[in-house]
Amino acid sequence: MCGIIGYAGHRPAVPVVVEGLRRLEYRGYDSAGVAFAGHDGLHVLRAKGKLAALEERLAGEVITTATCAMGHTRWATHGVPAERNAHPHTSNDGRLALVHNGIIENYQEIKSRLTAAGYVFHSETDTEVLVNLIAEKRKTAPSLLEAFAAALREAHGAYAVCLMDTDAPGSILAARMSAPLLFGLGTGENFVASDIPAFLPYTRQVIFLEDGEIVRATANGYEILRLADLSPVQREAQTIQWDMQAAQKGGYRHFMLKEIFEQPRVITDGLAGRLDNAGGQQACSVLLPELDDLPVPERLHIVACGTSYHSGLWGRHLLEEWAGLPVQVEIASEFRYREGLALGQKDMVLVISQSGETADTLAALRIARERGVQTLGLCNVVGSSIAREASAVIYTQAGPEISVASTKAMCSQMLMLALMALYWAQRRGSMDSQARQARLSQLESLPALLDAALPDMHATARQLARKYAQADSFFYLGRGHCFPLALEGALKLKELSYIHAEGYAAGEMKHGPIALIDPDFPTFTLALDDTLFPKVRSNIVEVQARQGKVIALSNPGMDLSVDDLWLVPPLPAPLAGFVALPALQLFSYEMADYLGKDVDQPRNLAKSVTVE
Ligand code: F6R
Repeated sequence: MCGIIGYAGHRPAVPVVVEGLRRLEYRGYDSAGVAFAGHDGLHVLRAKGKLAALEERLAGEVITTATCAMGHTRWATHGVPAERNAHPHTSNDGRLALVHNGIIENYQEIKSRLTAAGYVFHSETDTEVLVNLIAEKRKTAPSLLEAFAAALREAHGAYAVCLMDTDAPGSILAARMSAPLLFGLGTGENFVASDIPAFLPYTRQVIFLEDGEIVRATANGYEILRLADLSPVQREAQTIQWDMQAAQKGGYRHFMLKEIFEQPRVITDGLAGRLDNAGGQQACSVLLPELDDLPVPERLHIVACGTSYHSGLWGRHLLEEWAGLPVQVEIASEFRYREGLALGQKDMVLVISQSGETADTLAALRIARERGVQTLGLCNVVGSSIAREASAVIYTQAGPEISVASTKAMCSQMLMLALMALYWAQRRGSMDSQARQARLSQLESLPALLDAALPDMHATARQLARKYAQADSFFYLGRGHCFPLALEGALKLKELSYIHAEGYAAGEMKHGPIALIDPDFPTFTLALDDTLFPKVRSNIVEVQARQGKVIALSNPGMDLSVDDLWLVPPLPAPLAGFVALPALQLFSYEMADYLGKDVDQPRNLAKSVTVE
């Protein structure tokens, strides 16, 4: 949801900012803009479309030797993607420029007041309202900082903002409230940004700003202040361990493909330090020290959005089966508005989020906290809002996920859910140690198994994608632990290739959806070797009886007759999901690529959804 970068330093600032925007483009990419401080005042340049359009505009300009600048890449919330709605927005007096990620909920009311006072608006954005509110406050405030804080105190909603002022050309002011913003501490240069890759080539020293904090930075200094009273905040910088290579394509055509192929490594990294072999050869127990101080929940509520929600649905099977925990899984945007939500004091709310910033998931977490319930975050982004606000956090350690469509993050979430199920099974004594060891060695075998299988899976996905690329619609069917994967397969196909796809529980088809089946409406079925296979096979036959074409993802030796049988290496259920998942991802990837779609940045989407 919009990417922000601000820079005050000693280098030519515009290239630094544009390069930072390139690494933030996954957050939104319908328009982009920069502001920089020249000797003759603030310059603002904006363009509709991807960053390349802005770069073209910049090529035609004489970029000054400005050493202070800020930039923005947008995912539209107010107003269509257009140059007039692109950020930065300037105040009517031309002295201030602002970039913003988030939504100011009361902007209409503020706009009416400002309009009555003579302000004129050139865009439909809430950001232009906010920058003019700061300008208005400045007329009476003792300093720009006070005006900035006063305006933000009036703004309701979520924001991460960065402000530049003609009168202070070497400094930036930034603030956050329910939207991500980090401070990068360099040598003779400082940064603010929505995400670490924006400034990682220049510094690994990061300060995670909290909600309701302002940072004021120049090339050689900075201060962090509380928005409420401008009192100073002392906070240590943290050192980021991963490097830029982790955030680059590494020879793959797309980030998505690279991230799918990273899944064996994600599993290896996720298991590292988590298994205890108690001196023997074989891993016999799971180490999750993050959970040691929390009581085993009597009931677990898993709350998440999108792909993370699908991980939660998958994880429920393991948590119920292995740990014997009652589990509910809910979409965060529904959970947060449930009037009659029943949360017991011994319940736990587990929120799953790759970004750790998803607005609905964060709101669900806050509701649980207000209700005094234990909260646990399962996040990938270290230091993200969810990671900081939950009672405990488990990091998925998948490394930066750049492609907008989530792939390796789901694999890492599934792995951690499996470890959590085994860990709680251990504490509750609900699984004997032999069964636990068997599960653990299956998990340990996964990286090698996937490494060996992925190239063939990729080739099959490519061949099938070409065969089925003309379809307008798809069904994805699965039962039990494969049902969440069917939902995920359908989500991936629609978000990447824009082909309509529905994920269904295979047994539910006959209650209505089967009416859609005809020779041009193919069905992708997960028919793995598990106890539900005979039921799934019957559902396949029902589809075939309506002349529907069927692709079945299955294992060698299964008795199945379909149009396209895609065999993957067997693994006992439910861990077979780790093999099925990349097959589904590769099929969607190949379909989108073959159809010429923008794989890493699909239309209308953004990586981190920080608005409701
Ligand atoms: C789909 C996708 C989204 C996210 C969802 C939640 O490929 O990426 O559905 O899974 O927006 O995001 P996080 O996990 O960051 O909370």
